[in-house]
Amino acid sequence: MTKKLITVIGATGAQGGGLARAILADASGEFSLRAVTRKPEGESARALAAAGAEVVRADLDDEASLRRAFDGAHGAFCVTNYWEHLSPDREIAQARALGEASKASGVAHVIWSTLEDTRLRVPLTDPRMPTLHGRFKVPHFDTKGGSDAFFDASRTTFLATSFYWENLIYFGMGPKPTENGSLGFVLPMGDEKLPGIAAEDIGKCAFGIFKRGASTFGQHIGVAGEHLTGAEMARALSRALERDVVHQAVQPEVYRGFGFPGADDIGNMFQYKAELESAYCGARSVSESRALNPDLLTFAAWLSKYKSKIPLA
Ligand SMILES: NC(=O)c1ccc[n+]([C@@H]2O[C@H](COP(=O)([O-])OP(=O)(O)OC[C@H]3O[C@@H](n4cnc5c(N)ncnc54)[C@H](OP(=O)(O)O)[C@@H]3O)[C@@H](O)[C@H]2O)c1
Repeated sequence: MTKKLITVIGATGAQGGGLARAILADASGEFSLRAVTRKPEGESARALAAAGAEVVRADLDDEASLRRAFDGAHGAFCVTNYWEHLSPDREIAQARALGEASKASGVAHVIWSTLEDTRLRVPLTDPRMPTLHGRFKVPHFDTKGGSDAFFDASRTTFLATSFYWENLIYFGMGPKPTENGSLGFVLPMGDEKLPGIAAEDIGKCAFGIFKRGASTFGQHIGVAGEHLTGAEMARALSRALERDVVHQAVQPEVYRGFGFPGADDIGNMFQYKAELESAYCGARSVSESRALNPDLLTFAAWLSKYKSKIPLA
């Protein structure tokens, strides 16, 4: 049987890495992996090559390199990394290049890792949250959702991702000491639920989508491991860390003022998720995610694997 080749953008990263490892681990042998990176000599790329991947060099800023990476592939997983540059224009240009290259090279099935264009529900005229860069409410969402149109819907599945629980490890969002000796977990979402997921599970769900194939073309499929309030996350953290963890539901405007690069974007993001909780959670079915990926982790299961990596200082 000829294997179906999947080109994975971001194979050395969180989402694409989860998909790459799922393809390599699949005993059916239905698929093979072409892992894309700018650094084939890097440690992550070399690990993928050692595990059986074809590793190729391509750059999202160079459409011709993407065409070469997609050439002959059955499938393409497409993701951009806003947080590397914080430039909406650059992310849009990269998404356009992915869409154009996947069409030009005749890939049969594309997965575009996207998020909502929040402006469809919170127009720029809405005063609830500030407009950023003159034309966005949540830049790193709007750029992705606004780029859906670059992809050919007749062969693309639009994968709506969720908040990675790894943000507690790598993005400074873990619990921090408070003056009274407990740990404070800041989540500016009041009592509303946040869909969250283990980043690795996004890639595993994407693998489930490639296995389903044509029946998913044109669909928006949202994935999440659980929908939890800040208080529920704090209780799970307390149990896992055996420390008193308290949810701190600061207001979005306070969060926007935290001062780190992108704090305004993320403050708007949490406000959007909280104020449109029903639509946002409704677009991310946990049971559908588990049908795509039976290994889907709950937050408690994720904590039992990774709690020791959460910095608590
Ligand atoms: N953090 C969250 O909670 C969350 C939730 C949902 C969605 N997201 C979105 O996830 C995206 C990032 O995905 P991730 O977390 O999987 O990334 P990641 O772990 O930070 O890794 C970035 C990946 O993108 C590749 N890459 C970046 N720029 C590239 C370029 N110019 N050309 C080729 N490859 C490039 C990197 O490859 P090399 O360095 O090897 O070239 C690497 O594999 C962001 O856009 C973010 O908005 C994040």
